[in-house]
Amino acid sequence: MCGIVGAVSQRNIVPILVEGLKRLEYRGYDSCGVAVHQDGGLRRARSTSRVAELQAQADQDGIAAGTGIAHTRWATHGAPAVHNAHPHFSAGPNSGNPAGAEAVGRIALVHNGIIENHDELRAELKARGYVFASQTDTEVIAHLIDHLYSGDLLDAVQQALPRLKGAYAVAVFCRDEPHRVVAAREGSPLVLGVGEGENFVASDAMALAGVTDQIVYLEEGDVVDLQLGRYWISRLDTTTGRFGAVQREVKTVHAHSGAAELGPYRHYMQKEIFEQPVAIANTLDAVTGISPELFGDGAYRVFKEVDKVLILACGTSYYSGSTAKYWLESIARIPTSVEIASEYRYRDSVPDPRTLVVTISQSGETADTIAALKHARAQGMKHTLTICNVATSAMVRECELAYITRAGAEIGVASTKAFTTQLVGLFLLTLALAQTRGHLGEADEARHLKNLRHLPVAVQAVLALEPQVIAWSEEFARKENALFLGRGLHYPIALEGALKLKEISYIHAEAYPAGELKHGPLALVTAEMPVVTVAPNDALLEKLKSNMQEVRARGGQLYVFADGDTAIESEVGLHVIRMPEHYGALSPILHVVPLQLLAYHTACARGTDVDKPRNLAKSVTVE
Ligand code: M6R
Repeated sequence: MCGIVGAVSQRNIVPILVEGLKRLEYRGYDSCGVAVHQDGGLRRARSTSRVAELQAQADQDGIAAGTGIAHTRWATHGAPAVHNAHPHFSAGPNSGNPAGAEAVGRIALVHNGIIENHDELRAELKARGYVFASQTDTEVIAHLIDHLYSGDLLDAVQQALPRLKGAYAVAVFCRDEPHRVVAAREGSPLVLGVGEGENFVASDAMALAGVTDQIVYLEEGDVVDLQLGRYWISRLDTTTGRFGAVQREVKTVHAHSGAAELGPYRHYMQKEIFEQPVAIANTLDAVTGISPELFGDGAYRVFKEVDKVLILACGTSYYSGSTAKYWLESIARIPTSVEIASEYRYRDSVPDPRTLVVTISQSGETADTIAALKHARAQGMKHTLTICNVATSAMVRECELAYITRAGAEIGVASTKAFTTQLVGLFLLTLALAQTRGHLGEADEARHLKNLRHLPVAVQAVLALEPQVIAWSEEFARKENALFLGRGLHYPIALEGALKLKEISYIHAEAYPAGELKHGPLALVTAEMPVVTVAPNDALLEKLKSNMQEVRARGGQLYVFADGDTAIESEVGLHVIRMPEHYGALSPILHVVPLQLLAYHTACARGTDVDKPRNLAKSVTVE
């Protein structure tokens, strides 16, 4: 998703800005740009190509200076095209351009997020003589700041912000103030990087790795004024209606550069699938026993005060939450509901203060999940916990309790190791809640811990199935549709398998609880329809076998990942890959792995851009 980097320095900051964008590339983007204050004016390079091309373009155009901003754009308003790429320049009555020259005003701006009242502002600014060169919602902010500017950029930005409705992070500089960048956030992440005699902003500390490790996590509503060797943070005091100074802690952050080597792998997704045994082992590293305190100080008191769980998440994280519902209800005996964050945030639900609100997120920056969390809290549900892969993220900072998964940086847009480590975190949460509620004896605790610790070895054995999955993927690559079936605990795994296949191979895939097939989707089954089935040897196996018969009777092709002792054998129309071992309650963590491999190899066979699938972004920081 969109990324911002900005700097005020004495040295040429273009290579730093471009390197910062490269570190944010994994989030997904469709155009990029950089603008600097050079020779008394605004200069920029923009491209719909890769960030590496942007550097070449900037070099060729001689773009180099100490003050600048840069951006990767993921299109929301207006097509992915150069004229819509950021940075945007103001252009209007104050531009002072010679006749015939490109309309270049005095304000340069980059923006993440969505401005909801852009139509209204556009009409107003057009009436004032501003000229729009893009279809973006962003351009209105540049013009608005230009309109309000009277010699002090900070003052103009502070006047403009209350007029914006929506979510944003912005960074802006002005032709008339060569050593100044002003940045602000409201709903989209932004950090300040403090250097020696120079200062930076970025949408993620990772973008500044190697430049500075002194990071301030700006809070909602913060405005930061960056100059050479000094910065000043302010925010609107709603009682006085004025902006006043605020102090924020500077943290030493050893951000991962994100530039992980691919090693022997073709794509980050493949690498990340194969990293799962280590990621799971790392996530379990500090766990010596089950205790609420694994989730933070005060967790015991919180767990005692709640008698319901509400899980909020999006995408793959929603499916890990959906899996955990089965665990939480059957092991911890606690009623659990799981909500898609983008729906929950607007739903008129019935709040219960004795609820533990659990958010799940790889990035910790997903706008819908953060908004859903705030919505739950605003409704009086104060007990919040997150399962998150990024310790410094907004989600962790917003929640009372946290379990940090240690999957390491996940670069591929398709989430893999984040999912399995989330499941580990959620299983630990289940056990801790079960213990607090008197449903976990010592023998059960020891058994579950033993199974958790064996997971890395068990996942490794599943990864060895890759050659068999590759053989299937060649068949799948020729299909345009696929169905996924699972039951109980493995229904969310079928959903996750379908999501993986559709997002990277662009094959239309849907998942159903197998018992639901006869209520509609069976009409889709023909010899052309591959039906992937997750078949663990659990209490629902015989029911699942009946559902498989319904598919076979209609000529459907079954592709079954079956536990060894299920007695499901390959025959015509029935293809079976045998899972190495049955894994009881933790079986979803094993069964999802071949589905990840199937999606990955099918996408490779179709030649798609596996790590950066079309239209998608890694970290979805807009609504
Ligand atoms: O960072 P998050 O876990 O909050 O992200 C949620 C979804 O955007 C994410 O899981 C998405 O569905 C993935 N691309 C799935 O592979």
